[in-house]
Amino acid sequence: MIKNTLLLGCAISLASTMAFAELPPLAKKDRYKVGFAQTESNNPWRIAETRSFKETAKSCNWDLVYTDAAGSAAKQVADVDSMIAQGVDIIFLPPREEKPLLPAVLRAKAQGIPVMLVDRSVDSSVAKAGRDYVTFLGSNFIQQGQLAAQWLIKNANGKGKIIELEGTTGSSPANDRRKGFDDEIAKHSGMTILASQSGDFSRDKGRKVTETLLQAHPDVDVIYAHNDEMAIGAIQALEAAGKVPGKDVLIVSVDGTRDALQAIIDGKMGVTIESSPFFGPLACETMTRYANGEKIEPWVRVTDRIFTISNAAKHIDEAY
Ligand code: AHR
Repeated sequence: MIKNTLLLGCAISLASTMAFAELPPLAKKDRYKVGFAQTESNNPWRIAETRSFKETAKSCNWDLVYTDAAGSAAKQVADVDSMIAQGVDIIFLPPREEKPLLPAVLRAKAQGIPVMLVDRSVDSSVAKAGRDYVTFLGSNFIQQGQLAAQWLIKNANGKGKIIELEGTTGSSPANDRRKGFDDEIAKHSGMTILASQSGDFSRDKGRKVTETLLQAHPDVDVIYAHNDEMAIGAIQALEAAGKVPGKDVLIVSVDGTRDALQAIIDGKMGVTIESSPFFGPLACETMTRYANGEKIEPWVRVTDRIFTISNAAKHIDEAY
């Protein structure tokens, strides 16, 4: 594993030195051909992100080349390659997983097409913003995990038997939301993570994984889900098992979807840490800055809010 990462790292540094020493520039134009290579469309978050890019295409004068990888990193690589072949001016990419998309990012750079990573990142030990791709537009996933843990520690008085539902294996939000949360929980001896398993960011898988883990750990009193869809699946599994979500089991999650805010209002979920999917306007603004010759910071950070019973009703109408 370490050897493979090192080899990939060497290949990538060599490829980036051999291709363009500098990042490819973006010419100033009235209209751009813009690639957006979506990962999948099976949850409200992804649908909201795609809608944001499609709406921005109109306001920012883009001819949008949109693809949907349908949950396959291999298809997403092929989608990026096809955008390169079509000669798009720039590619916005949410890499489904941290490693498999790296070679496609480098191929785009080698063909003179700037890439901006959006919402998810690649393995930062082998590819760097400002060298291999222009920048990463997105949230701080480690901080999201920390905030979820801190809310939990405060609201469960430092005690809890936790099941963790992880996102897509190998994706940056799953890796970082786990790290942020687990490191914070490890500081509290009264809190234990009983089991941690991937539900692939999907409602149905979140429900099935919870059903299985409930059999092995009937004493669970907290579920931390890496996104709201899995949290809603977990609520369904708990109710089917005769437990009362929000009372017998505290639910802590990330995203800020409409269903999650409704679950908070209904008393079934404790907190969701926002992770905004509305990247279109930020993508337009950042590529305009880049075309104007500005040096772009390696991480264009998105700040997130925390939704609890104190503000869920106020924000539900703007949720997706
Ligand atoms: O990359 C962001 C994550 O991807 C969202 O939290 C999740 O819902 C989506 O699928």
